[in-house]
Amino acid sequence: MQLQDTRNAIEKVLYTKDEIAARLGEMGADISRDYDGKDLLLVGVLKGAIMVMADLSREISVPAKMDWMAVSSYGASTKSSGVVRILKDLGEDVQGRNVLIVEDIIDSGLTLAWLKENLEARGAASVKIATALRKPDALKVDVDVDYVGFDIPNEFVVGYGLDYAEDYRHLDFIGVLAPHVYAPESVNND
Ligand code: IMP
Ligand code: MG
Repeated sequence: MQLQDTRNAIEKVLYTKDEIAARLGEMGADISRDYDGKDLLLVGVLKGAIMVMADLSREISVPAKMDWMAVSSYGASTKSSGVVRILKDLGEDVQGRNVLIVEDIIDSGLTLAWLKENLEARGAASVKIATALRKPDALKVDVDVDYVGFDIPNEFVVGYGLDYAEDYRHLDFIGVLAPHVYAPESVNND
């Protein structure tokens, strides 16, 4: 879905399809160089990372395998609590493997910090992280992010895998959701 199809749901475009593709190309080149001669296992975090995985993996020129996890953060608020539940686990054994977690966005960083520790505890030889987007709050948590597409402001973004209530994942760009979509009461309709 493109901007003109979104019926004013998007306040502004942060990154276009072409800008995303160009940045993922650079990240893919870095990853290919760093993992040359190593046994690389890409682990995508469902569902948000599907687009990043599809496009980033095709920019990687060294052998790699692919697997998926689905996790959910407990907690009453919309912010991650850091307590994570595995909804779908890996099919692959990570023992001795070089794992690269592929994510859409790192916000608080709590989910990723937990996931990284979890995979390390299973005996992975290394666990690194690649994310398309990172928000400033992520810097508060002590989690090293090895490959970052774009550092973005603290705004709610959608598209390119990222959702609001499961909508907008299939936008071909990344944009900021207009407030009238998620906070209709704040808009005067008189
Ligand atoms: P955290 O890093 O533990 O706070 O969790 C990050 C997760 O929250 C991401 O994987 C997304 O699923 C979700 N998330 C955080 N910020 C946004 C956003 O701006 N748009 C859509 N989803 C977001
Ligand atoms: Mg995610």
